Amino acid sequence: MAFTVAIDGPAAAGKGTISRAVATHFGFAHLDTGLLYRATGRKTLDGTEPVAAALGLEASDLEADNLRSPDVAQAASRVAAIPEVRAALLDFQRAFARRDGGAVLDGRDIGTVICPEAEVKLFVTATDDVRAMRRFRELEGKGFETSFDEVLADLRARDARDSARSAAPLKPADEAVLLDTSEMGIDDAVAAAIAQVTGRF
Ligand code: DC
Repeated sequence: MAFTVAIDGPAAAGKGTISRAVATHFGFAHLDTGLLYRATGRKTLDGTEPVAAALGLEASDLEADNLRSPDVAQAASRVAAIPEVRAALLDFQRAFARRDGGAVLDGRDIGTVICPEAEVKLFVTATDDVRAMRRFRELEGKGFETSFDEVLADLRARDARDSARSAAPLKPADEAVLLDTSEMGIDDAVAAAIAQVTGRF
């Protein structure tokens, strides 16, 4: 049986952690759709044309080094504004969303474009400062040299681009449940997300 949990929201709001935990709790498959755009963006940094990069994506590209780097994040946001890039990645995401046994997908347009029929839709947010601090700590932990101000500026630039684009902009689906994680620990955020799914699968 297909059952889709769509988890959208801006960068570093906690979507990834929440999605993985929900998938593990219910035994669903999980797809971090940002990785598709990051892998595409990474290839463009090597000189590949964006649409060719998206059309030529292979599973191994999703395991490439440095997909989490700030440069790749910005490249991902740039290629994500190109409608032909989004079109190239659409079928794979739709098929994943409706696979048998349940799926959690996190991204920017899962509840609005990829799977409007998703049984559960969450829109995860947090204040800019909270998100930037989380991302700053994560990047520091991975050994990237950066500052809080730089991370905050990068995140705001990416959110502005992701929200303003005409192709599948970042926005909550009409019926999405809003989950503001600014003042929540990860355990509470995960519990709140699980509560939205419990009893509906
Ligand atoms: O979730 P993330 O930070 O890894 O995503 C990287 C970029 O990819 C993000 O800035 C916008 C783009 N993206 C998108 O446009 N649509 C998605 N469903 C997922 C990511």
